[in-house]
Amino acid sequence: MDVRNLRTYFYTEEGVVTAVDGVSFQIGRGETLCLVGESGCGKSVTSLSIMRLIDYPGRIVEGEIIFDGQNLLELPEYEMRRIRGNRISMIFQQPLSYLNPVFKVGDQIAEVLEVHTNLNEQQRRERVIELLRMVGIPAPERRYEAYPHELSGGMAQRVMIAMALASEPDLLIADEPTTALDVTIQAQILDLIRDLRERVGMTTLLITHDLGVVAEMADTVAVMYAGQIVEYTDVETLFEEPKHPYTRGLLNSVPVLGKLRDKLDTIPGSVPILIDLPPGCRFANRCVARVENNLKVCTQRDVPLYQIDENHLVRCFLYAPDLEKLESQARQAASEPTLA
Ligand SMILES: Nc1ncnc2c1ncn2[C@@H]1O[C@H](COP(=O)(O)OP(=O)(O)O)[C@@H](O)[C@H]1O
Ligand SMILES: [Mg+2]
Repeated sequence: MDVRNLRTYFYTEEGVVTAVDGVSFQIGRGETLCLVGESGCGKSVTSLSIMRLIDYPGRIVEGEIIFDGQNLLELPEYEMRRIRGNRISMIFQQPLSYLNPVFKVGDQIAEVLEVHTNLNEQQRRERVIELLRMVGIPAPERRYEAYPHELSGGMAQRVMIAMALASEPDLLIADEPTTALDVTIQAQILDLIRDLRERVGMTTLLITHDLGVVAEMADTVAVMYAGQIVEYTDVETLFEEPKHPYTRGLLNSVPVLGKLRDKLDTIPGSVPILIDLPPGCRFANRCVARVENNLKVCTQRDVPLYQIDENHLVRCFLYAPDLEKLESQARQAASEPTLA
């Protein structure tokens, strides 16, 4: 999976919401990329864009989504429909909107198996029950017969996960799949994802704001802020040498077992509204490093992604090789009287 310069905007009455603004990432076969970041930074819109499920007033305005050598954005809708739920499965944040209210949940999962496997009816039923058990649904034989409205939110979430995994997809997109679930169930579901990853080489795009899940599941991590990727590296580097002030803030806000901490740090302020953004770094108004270093450039120029290592990208002027020059230009521009 190779996402290149994806831009997805919403054309609202208040203005253009630049929800996803030039996002690029690659996930190798069988690998897991975690997308992390605060609520509203564009994680769900990124995943819905890959599935081509962006509705009016939203539109993918630029980019390529290369899956197995094909640009998904160029496929006719009927081919895209064949890929969805088959080669690419998605676990959504709102499970009930995804389940069909008039069919028994067991039959809905069995239908996926009918399309994607050559199991006979009896085997499909057994596999469905096994899948329901694997996602932590008690009395799966009985739940097979339930209708979606008879399930609690957490149960419906698990049914949807079972359904998404039933086809053993080449690519799984999981949008906060375990957020609402208790830790035991969460661990079971992560095991299930890991199992498919190892057994069938499933590629995974995992969206989460749980850094524990990131540590456990990710090969690569992309940290998003206000519609852009601000740091991109392998999981070890992210935890050992986080570079972006936002990533550092995120990591600081997590309690670490065995380490004493007076209080949990949180990042003061909030994500900017993604309409008519001023030039400059989108994180500048909350950035401690900008203040500490007394930088002017941060609020004057948009920040490119700097490659600071073979496998490490950071969208922060602190890592600009020509920071001094940029900063002196910024200071000059700030002090120059504007010509009328
Ligand atoms: N249908 C929509 N209309 C207008 N703005 C939207 C719509 N859907 C999402 N957005 C905006 O896009 C941005 C990213 O949203 P989202 O991807 O859901 O964030 P996340 O999943 O990271 O919490 C937010 O600012 C959100 O308000
Ligand atoms: Mg979301």
